[in-house]
Parts: sequence; C-alpha cells; structure tokens
Amino acid sequence: MPKPRIFVTRAIPQPALDRLGEVFEVSLHASDIPLNQDELMAAVTDQDALLCLLTDSIDQRLLEAAPRLKCVSNLAVGYNNIDVAQATARGIAVCNTPGVLTETTADLAWALMLACARRIAEADRWVREGRFTGWDPLLMLGLDVHAKTLGIIGMGRIGSAVARRAEGFRMQVLWFDPLADPRALPPEFERTDLETLCRQSDFISIHAPLTSETRHLIGAEQFALMKATAILINTARGPIVDETALIAALKRKSIAAAGLDVYEREPEIPPELLQLDNALLLPHIGSASVETRARMALMAVENAIAVIQGGTPPARVN
Ligand code: GLV
Repeated sequence: MPKPRIFVTRAIPQPALDRLGEVFEVSLHASDIPLNQDELMAAVTDQDALLCLLTDSIDQRLLEAAPRLKCVSNLAVGYNNIDVAQATARGIAVCNTPGVLTETTADLAWALMLACARRIAEADRWVREGRFTGWDPLLMLGLDVHAKTLGIIGMGRIGSAVARRAEGFRMQVLWFDPLADPRALPPEFERTDLETLCRQSDFISIHAPLTSETRHLIGAEQFALMKATAILINTARGPIVDETALIAALKRKSIAAAGLDVYEREPEIPPELLQLDNALLLPHIGSASVETRARMALMAVENAIAVIQGGTPPARVN
C-alpha cells in the first residue's frame, strides 16, 4: 500500500523528519523563502496531511483546494493562522504543540522583562559604539524588577509559568483572564480586572491567544491607565496590542518601555518602532531553544501520525 502523503512547509529538526518518513511520503519545502499562498495551495492538493508553521495561512480557500486532507498539524501552540471552523466542517483534525514550549516561552518573557528594566540591549549598543569611558553614578539607570507588581494577561500554561518565576523576585502577581479558573491557581496570585491590572502593574506580560476578543485588547485606553514606569511585554501575538497606540505611548514616554517578540503584521516592523530606544525587539523566538524546537517538531509529527493512523493525537484542538 502506498504511504499517505504529507507536505511540510519548512525544514524542521531532522529526527522529527526521519520519524515522519517512517509513516508518510514526505514532501518538504526546504527553502528559507516561504511559499506564497498560491504555491502553498498548489502543494497541498494531493496531500493527506499538512505540517505547517504559524506563518502559514490555512484558510477556507486552501482547505477547499486540498480534498484529501485529514490533518493540519501546526508547529506552534497558537493556531490563529488556521480556520478551525472550516477544518472541523470538513472533518480535518487541527493539532498544535502545547505544553512542550511553556517553560521556554516563560523564560523569554522574563528575559525581556529584565532586559527592558535594566536597558540591556541599549547598554550593549552603547558599549559597542565605544562610549564606555568608566563607571558613572548616573549611567544607564534602569528600573528594579524585584518586589514590583507583575500583571499577567492570559493565565494559562505560559502565563502561570511566568507568574511562578515572579515568586523568586518577591513580586506581587496580578492576573486577568476571563477564561481561567481561579481555583486552579495559587491564591497568592491575585485575580483582577483589566483596568486594575493596567493601573497597578509595573510589568504587564501578555500570554493570551489571539481571538476576536483579544484583538487590540491593549490600546490607547489601556496605555492611558498604565504607570509612566510600566513595561509591557508581548510574547503572545502581535495583534493583541494596537501597535500604533503602543508606538505613541512609547514616544511620549507615557509608559517606560516595551519588550516585543511579536508584531501586528509580522514580519513587518513599523520603522518608527525601530527608532525607539525604549522598545526591545525580538524576531518571534519565544520557543526557540534547541531542546524545545526538537520537542515541538516531534509533537507535531506524532500529531499527524496519530490522526492518519486513526489514533488519538497528543494535542488536537477540534
Ligand atoms: C509560537 O508563537 C507558538 O504559538 O507556538
């Protein structure tokens, strides 16, 4: 019997590809230049499964162009790039990679918090420019992290992991998440509404999925509530923050800084943001550790294999 066919939209760690090859006939788009939508549609027409990235748009047109498709396995925990309702209507399983990237992404949120508060990227640029002439009592003064208030928007797996780390810094933790069950969370993490969180937090870290409810959840109104010393961290999805309002807040210093791993129109970054010293900008690397990317790839592979073999995938979202 011929093997089922899977299309993989970008190179993934080799052990995961090898495992995929045990079950599937694998077609791999190995180039670093992503396929455009028409090319992706053409590539999936005769495929039984698709292993894709969060940057691939798996919309209704694409699903219509792939009549044999049984599984869309996303190499990410977020799946806002996939039209899940359409996939479900066609009996296509949508899978993702939760759990394995939780701690790694929480680490990166903390790296951004610390780096923004202590102006690490700015200070590094300054040294490389040859401007370090000696210790100076007023040089590169930042803000303390320890004993401050951390507000977490989205208290799921990653938000909770970020909160746990705050205990070591003796921080007060506030959280806002209409979907989280407070009984499942330590009582010392204080549930609050978004307005109070914006008013009281020194650091605000976003860990919500992108949905119609969370799009532009943080905009001009929320920035107006924040402290002038507040630092906003976004390692979730860019469109949760109104980027135009963020740039305005950073420019007039109505908040102190922002640490961003994600953007509204990735990979586009507004030129104005690139000019701002109080913005620390990363290229969407929340889960990008060697260990975690290997685990994510294997999980995405096992998801596709389980669906095609009629088993229960490790993580199915529909
Ligand atoms: C990364 O952004 C992910 O959703 O896994």
